[in-house]
Amino acid sequence: MSRICLGVGGGIAAYKAADLLRKLTEAGHDVTVVPTAAALQFVGAPTWSALSHHPVASDVWTGAADVEHVRLGRAAQLVVVAPATADLLARAAHGLADDLLTNALLTARCPVLFAPAMHTEMWEHPATVANVATLRERGCVVLEPASGRLTGTDTGKGRLPEPAEIAEFAQLLLAVPHALPCDLAGRHVVVSAGGTREPLDPVRFLGNASSGRQGYAVAAVAAARGAHVTLVAANVELPDPAATDVVRVGTALELRDAVRKHAATADVVVMAAAVADFRPSTAAEYKIKKSDVPPAAIELDENPDVLAELVAERAGDAVLVGFAAETGDDTASVLEHGRAKLARKGCDVLVVNAVGPGKAFGQRDNAGVILDAAGHERVVDLGPKHVLAAALLDVVAQRLQARR
Ligand code: CTP
Repeated sequence: MSRICLGVGGGIAAYKAADLLRKLTEAGHDVTVVPTAAALQFVGAPTWSALSHHPVASDVWTGAADVEHVRLGRAAQLVVVAPATADLLARAAHGLADDLLTNALLTARCPVLFAPAMHTEMWEHPATVANVATLRERGCVVLEPASGRLTGTDTGKGRLPEPAEIAEFAQLLLAVPHALPCDLAGRHVVVSAGGTREPLDPVRFLGNASSGRQGYAVAAVAAARGAHVTLVAANVELPDPAATDVVRVGTALELRDAVRKHAATADVVVMAAAVADFRPSTAAEYKIKKSDVPPAAIELDENPDVLAELVAERAGDAVLVGFAAETGDDTASVLEHGRAKLARKGCDVLVVNAVGPGKAFGQRDNAGVILDAAGHERVVDLGPKHVLAAALLDVVAQRLQARR
């Protein structure tokens, strides 16, 4: 159990912070909510205290005997501010201390995560841009807002990232406090995720059990580390990670086209998708009936190996990353298969993980070994997929720096 201080700014997205609070307490954390006075205009104090099981204050006078304005920040192992309004970002950037939350921000020495929400114009205003830059320089994590419907009928960049996504980042920072440096700013990262489906007829396909969670985690963490991220998603039902461009594909050939197109400008390509090695040679135009000639054998054509093609063509000096989902067998262990695959595929980095019933595919947690072409091996124990994603991006960022 960790102690989290959840600051809530005065924006309409304050109601979503109640969901975030729930997620954090359900994960077992002790959360103290510090809303601003403006936040209490949107969601009242009883909601926050009932959900957090703690008294709630927004000024420095309540509970002054316990010197709350100092105790809160000192005690916190993580401060999350969601929604972070333009006003709150400004006050934090300038070190103001005019309410309990800004006092807590000044006394905290733990990781601080801001999840902004505001109208596009406010987010893009030079004052906000400068405040965000200041906070990031100081080591705070300021997420990019998501795009979509805003308070009124307008749409654009400025939505609060999904509470589930903010909660994943919170878990990540608690596990690895320095997991989200801004070290991929200016980089284009292409990530493929999910599992391809190769049609047999209009309703049936050859597919696999990949949920896309690991690839989505890599995309989300890369975006939080400042990258421009293109996420090529094959049959994934998860919400889009904030601040990523999502390209939807179905089959291996569609995935190949999308990855190759975006890889042309990429600094990093992460092939986390489970790509079918074969596809039915023909897909029936109409649904195959039981009474039809039984398809005793389905004829298959081999799909191109997208990662191997990228390695063979190596136009720029992009870092190429593969994933190897292995079960191990009589001939070799999971890791031995991984080492052989890295050598065979010729990519720069390969993440090996064990798959099978209850392992990796569709699960919240994952474990893996990150292998690189120089023979380094980094073991990541079972934990949230964002933790494995951050460890992988550490290795990638080091390689990018070495290439500069
Ligand atoms: N991959 C790919 N194109 C394919 C198959 C796989 O780009 N047609 C990529 C995957 O995205 C992954 C890596 O190659 O990053 C390893 O995938 P895997 O299925 O484990 O490798 P295969 O070469 O298919 O090896 P095998 O089936 O022999 O285990």
